[in-house]
Amino acid sequence: MAADNGKASPGAAQRGKTVHGEPANAGHRVLAPDDAEVEAYLETALKAPAPQRSADDHPGKAGSGTSTDQPDSVIVLDFGSQFAQLIARRVRELNVYSELLPHDTPWSEIERRKPKAIILSGGPMSVYDEGAPRPDPGIWAGAIPVLGICYGAQLMARELGGDVLPANRREYGPALVSITDSDGLFTGLDRDQPVWMSHGDSITRLPDGFRATAKSESNEFAGLVDPVRRLYGIQFHPEVVHTPRGRDILRNFVVGMAGAKPEWTPANFIETTVAEIRARVDARTRETGGDGNVICALSGGVDSAVAATLVHRAVGDRLTCIYVDHGLMRKKESELLRETFERSLGMRLVMVDARERFLRRLEGVDDPEQKRKIIGDEFIRVFEEEAEKISANGGIDFLTQGTLYPDVIESATSETKAAQKIKTHHNVGGLPADLRFRLIEPLRYLFKDEVRAVGAELGLPEAMVLRQPFPGPGLAIRIIGEVTAERLETLREADWIVIDEIKAAGLYRSLWQSFAILTPVRSVGVMGDGRTYANVVAIRAVTSEDGMTADWAKLPYEVLGRISSRIVNEVPGVNRVVYDISSKPPATIEWE
Ligand code: XMP
Repeated sequence: MAADNGKASPGAAQRGKTVHGEPANAGHRVLAPDDAEVEAYLETALKAPAPQRSADDHPGKAGSGTSTDQPDSVIVLDFGSQFAQLIARRVRELNVYSELLPHDTPWSEIERRKPKAIILSGGPMSVYDEGAPRPDPGIWAGAIPVLGICYGAQLMARELGGDVLPANRREYGPALVSITDSDGLFTGLDRDQPVWMSHGDSITRLPDGFRATAKSESNEFAGLVDPVRRLYGIQFHPEVVHTPRGRDILRNFVVGMAGAKPEWTPANFIETTVAEIRARVDARTRETGGDGNVICALSGGVDSAVAATLVHRAVGDRLTCIYVDHGLMRKKESELLRETFERSLGMRLVMVDARERFLRRLEGVDDPEQKRKIIGDEFIRVFEEEAEKISANGGIDFLTQGTLYPDVIESATSETKAAQKIKTHHNVGGLPADLRFRLIEPLRYLFKDEVRAVGAELGLPEAMVLRQPFPGPGLAIRIIGEVTAERLETLREADWIVIDEIKAAGLYRSLWQSFAILTPVRSVGVMGDGRTYANVVAIRAVTSEDGMTADWAKLPYEVLGRISSRIVNEVPGVNRVVYDISSKPPATIEWE
């Protein structure tokens, strides 16, 4: 019986898989990567080497040198819960760096990383199942405080001599626990706490040295502690929002009991990262006698914007950013980019006006995958040309990539790694890596929300930092049928109104994406005294955690009404607006 029903719940999509278990977005489609797609084209054009990753990679490592620059950290051991990443993110929200490691990470490796605390995630198995994942027993010795959550708590009980059995009554969903011992973990909390439970097993006997700290109606040991070895367990999930005081419990553990200093802040991150980049580029310059030139592809998304800004702070003019204006961007996006990077930040920006050539190649094409292929191909060609010019002008020593932490976690599926997909697609995966230059991945320790916080701290405009994901092929896959300059103009205007009204209603940040689609349908209307026969625009707004599944947003009627009347009144050639009420699955977020 599953101790944590997360993975087993019916309909729950596996990361990177469709509900039918097939690879999601097979082919050329890239999952909501923001910048990953465009960056991957540059990587492909340059035949870039694979990133070199090492177990020693840690924030603050290469900055001003000493290990005392490393922030305090918490290791989350992943036993397969769908919430494991969320635990790491919650810890980081407390300004403590947290990393996710496989459940069987050897104790020697854990010790070497010097974490202040260890958290054991939940998991889908039962601790008494054959092959149930177990940690290295070294973690129980009391050297580092441990908090076990759900399956993690049951492991703690069972491995140390207690009993775990299938529960008489399983607990899934909201529950109430009574704190019976408010020391440590529950400091500052009221006795009765609403929490989120998700388990089919229960601890029925505590090991020696433990005492109970909380109970629920059907669970005598909803909380446990061995104060001597500093081992804590809770049966419920503090990481989910349905446990309102979960954050305080995590803070009590991480900062209170384990004593981690809350110094993982955007400002500190910027300082150490800029120092680290500068040190690396300088060292390479000394080694090779080169100029230490860095290039970076900008896509308009937040990741590449933040990555470029960090590198620019470190190396100034040695950074050249390339932005390909393919003409498929939304209204004012290219202008914002130029304004921010060239005028405000004074960056060296190569803005390639490739609008004509993309449009020409898209002429007469209406198949979605064909559009994607053409756009990818053209990107690579443009990048090849530009990189050649830059190379001729002093060479390239580094390429900046906006790789995020979820891409580098060992257990993450590679399907989210756009570069790998695109490389295999273009059959360049087997080419010998060009070792003249190296990769700079300044965001490799960060989750997406942390990238946004760093972007805000760097002073990037809100429109860039809080931008919803936007597909690499841009508006081309939101025009159903052939892409023409005229249809692009129509869609751009309609899309602008959608975003404008959604922002005005204060809804922009609560939506994963919200946008307009230009359908190939024309319908009859009346305007003034005349009959019209014009385009139908569809509106799509969805809520989602990661783009893998999505719900159509229940936008207020007034907002939909305003969007509709503005589009029909302000956008020439449109006389009807419809709202897409399909969820994913079975529909996708994009229409093509
Ligand atoms: P779908 O439409 O598959 O989209 O539900 C899931 C997420 O992926 C984005 N998407 C793309 N992003 N290139 C990209 O860079 C693409 O070809 C592409 N297709 C879809 C989409 O916007 C959504 O966030």
